[in-house]
Amino acid sequence: MEAANILVSINETKKTAIVTLNRPKELNALSYDFLNELNVALHTLDKNDSVNCIILTGSTKAFAAGADIKALAEQSPIGIWKMDMYGLWQSLKQLKKPIIAAVAGFAIGGGCELAMICDMIIAAENAQFGQPEIKLGIMPGAGGTQRLPKLVGKNKAMEMVLTGNFISADEAYRIGLVNKVVPTEMLILEAETTANLIASQSTIAVQMAKESILKSFEMSLNDGLAFERRNYMACFDTPEQKEKMKAFLSK
Ligand code: CAA
Repeated sequence: MEAANILVSINETKKTAIVTLNRPKELNALSYDFLNELNVALHTLDKNDSVNCIILTGSTKAFAAGADIKALAEQSPIGIWKMDMYGLWQSLKQLKKPIIAAVAGFAIGGGCELAMICDMIIAAENAQFGQPEIKLGIMPGAGGTQRLPKLVGKNKAMEMVLTGNFISADEAYRIGLVNKVVPTEMLILEAETTANLIASQSTIAVQMAKESILKSFEMSLNDGLAFERRNYMACFDTPEQKEKMKAFLSK
């Protein structure tokens, strides 16, 4: 029997899930079907009340080596438009629960863009990041020219996108692309430690905080502050707010 391309394992006690990209022969290259399967898996977990935080990972060799070049080589602009990968990328943006990318090996092209759609990136020492599309005569098409400069600044994003060169995990940490770098064998354990902590907080507060931080990339400061205020106020309608504040005051 053929192995599933997306593996999902749920820890109901900790309220976390690990989603593993499992297309090893192609280094997790993101074909339409594969990205679609990932979308379905993540949206299913987003609706599952026994999961509060998700870890997305690949293999030790590759988180994901980008869009599937075999499927792109003979494409036309209209073909790409009809394929509507963009719809799948946009759909990933709608996920409410926090996602931690646990990246080992290559996270390049669409793979780097996928890691950047996640809410945090924990990198193994062997991780490599890059936007090599320029070497294929194209440019990033899933957020590489938009999210990367917001994370690492204009000049470093220009260097990565215009040269196509990869950077190491340590450099990715130095420039603010990843949250931390850990020994490769510790990657999942580290991601789980962070995920467990997030998953133990108020579900609504976590999701509202995620939503508010993401809005900061799309709104003016004043609109963003108004949005934040509404989400902040909504947290006062949760049992967790009542319980946690009461517990603090009575300890
Ligand atoms: N698409 C399809 N197949 C891919 C792939 C991709 N993006 N990346 C790797 N593979 C396949 C290879 O063709 C190879 O298959 P075979 O064994 O059948 O020959 C297999 O995965 C292993 O790859 P390599 O032998 O090349 O492994 P390596 O360790 O020597 O090199 C690598 C690894 C540096 C990641 C190299 O595979 C590579 O450069 N891959 C292409 C990366 C790339 O250019 N990505 C950008 C794609 S465009 C994009 O992502 C657009 C966007 O913004 C959405």
